[in-house]
Amino acid sequence: MRWDEVIVGDCIEVLAGFPEHTFDLVFADPPFNIGYRYDLYNDRRSRKEYLDWAKTWIAACVRVLKPTGSFFLAIGDEFAAEHKILLDEAGLHWRNWIIWHYTFGVACTKKFNRSHAHILYYVRDPKRYTFHADAIRVKSARISTYADARANPAGKLPDDTWVLRPQESEEHFQPESDTWYASRVCGTFRERTSHPCQMPEAILERIIKATTNPEDLVLDPFAGSGTTLAVAKKLGRRYLGIELSAHYAALIRQRLQSIVGRPESVITPPQTRRQASAALATAAKRPRGPG
Ligand SMILES: C[S@@+](CC[C@H](N)C(=O)[O-])C[C@H]1O[C@@H](n2cnc3c(N)ncnc32)[C@H](O)[C@@H]1O
Repeated sequence: MRWDEVIVGDCIEVLAGFPEHTFDLVFADPPFNIGYRYDLYNDRRSRKEYLDWAKTWIAACVRVLKPTGSFFLAIGDEFAAEHKILLDEAGLHWRNWIIWHYTFGVACTKKFNRSHAHILYYVRDPKRYTFHADAIRVKSARISTYADARANPAGKLPDDTWVLRPQESEEHFQPESDTWYASRVCGTFRERTSHPCQMPEAILERIIKATTNPEDLVLDPFAGSGTTLAVAKKLGRRYLGIELSAHYAALIRQRLQSIVGRPESVITPPQTRRQASAALATAAKRPRGPG
């Protein structure tokens, strides 16, 4: 098998060619069936057709998941409950229903603006799975606010609502609280590609660091702009992406080629291009040490 690439095709058909129990982590961010404009995929199907399809691709992914593997599914409000049931019925064990809180969502005029998506976290075997708590700890309020001597100095595990970008919401969503905040990837962000619905790298960073080891194999059956693959590469994991669109796949290959080496400080926090240039200018002015 060849890894560290993106295959153009239908994930159900492509995965049929892989042996069972191949991947350590599956991260799936399928089309949400809300009429998004992809170049090939029709994102407006009947409810029955969409859910029948979901059942089939979930089974295809579960078949190739290792007995110790983890499965994350990102999904919108419209079909989150249905996907929870499909994953339960696929024989996986549920760990968390994570809320990713974001801003820069679609501005509504006759209802409240939506500012979240769902990430369902499952494992295949609840007694045997990878979870590196120390790789993703955050400061607890006992440490940052109350100077409480009883606090674990290593911090605490993040809670199941994810807030990763504190600058606009510090007063509401402290990074050490149970909310993960990550902005959607806006047009001005350095990591932005031309794909219509790109996940922030910070979300994938936390998932991959927590649930895989270096060299583990990560699968993204709906590769999109290649966020999962890019983060896997940066973190020294092996990866495979599947993408229906040859055009998106070509952009993914470019994105992957632009990642050289294995940057140690990976991704967070998301930066705008202006912030990135300012940071580079400051770094350039700093006096260099020996060597
Ligand atoms: C929501 S996007 C994924 C975005 C991705 N998580 C990212 O961060 O860029 C879903 C992608 O699935 C692709 N897709 C739709 N049906 C597919 C299928 N049967 N097999 C593989 N890819 C498919 C679409 O072309 C689209 O790029």
